[in-house]
Amino acid sequence: MRKGLFVLIAGIIISAWSCQGKKEETAQKEAPVVKEEPKPAAPTAEDVIAAGEKVYNTYCMVCHQKDGNGVAGMNPPLTQTKYVLGDKTELITIVLGGLSGDIEVKGEMYSNVMPPHNFLNDKQVSDVLTFVRSSFGNDADAVSKEEVATVRAALEAK
Ligand code: HEC
Repeated sequence: MRKGLFVLIAGIIISAWSCQGKKEETAQKEAPVVKEEPKPAAPTAEDVIAAGEKVYNTYCMVCHQKDGNGVAGMNPPLTQTKYVLGDKTELITIVLGGLSGDIEVKGEMYSNVMPPHNFLNDKQVSDVLTFVRSSFGNDADAVSKEEVATVRAALEAK
C-alpha cells in the first residue's frame, strides 16, 4: 500500500516534470522570431537604364551599333530620330512587330528588314526603349512595362 502510493506519487512527479519540459520546448519554438525582411528596393532610373543597355547590347547593337548610329544605307540610326523620340505606341510597335519597307530616317532612305522582337518580355522592351530614349543624345521620357503590355495586347488581338 505504501509502496503503491510512492509509485503513484513518483509517477505524477515524473509526468508533471516531463510535461513541463515539453511545454518549455514548444514555448521556445513558438517564441516570436523577429525577422527583418529586407525590402526589395524599387528599381532606380539607373537600374532600368543599366538593364536596358544589356538588352540593347544583346539584341539591337548588332544592327544599330554601339553608338546608335546604325549602318549607312542598311540600318537606320537611333540618334534623335522621330521614331525614337516620337509616339511611344509606334516605337513599341516597331520593336515588337519589326519593320520593313521604305522608311526615311533623318533624310536617308532605308529599305531593309528589322525582325520582330516580340520574344522579349514587357520589361525587356520597356527597359531597352527607356535606355535608347535617354542615350545617343536622346532625351525623352521612360517607357513603362504597362505601355508595352498594352501595345502587345493590341497587336495580338489583330
Ligand atoms: C537585324 C538588324 C536589326 C536588329 C537586330 C534591330 N533592328 Fe531596328 N531596324 C533595323 C532596320 C533595317 C530598320 C529599318 C527597317 C526598314 O528599312 O523598313 C530598323 C528600324 C528601327 C527603328 C525605327 C527607325 C529609326 O531608326 O528610328 C527603331 C526605333 C529601331 N529599329 C529600334 C530597334 C531596337 C530598340 C532594337 C533592339 C530591341 C532593334 N531595332 C533591333 C534593323 C535592326
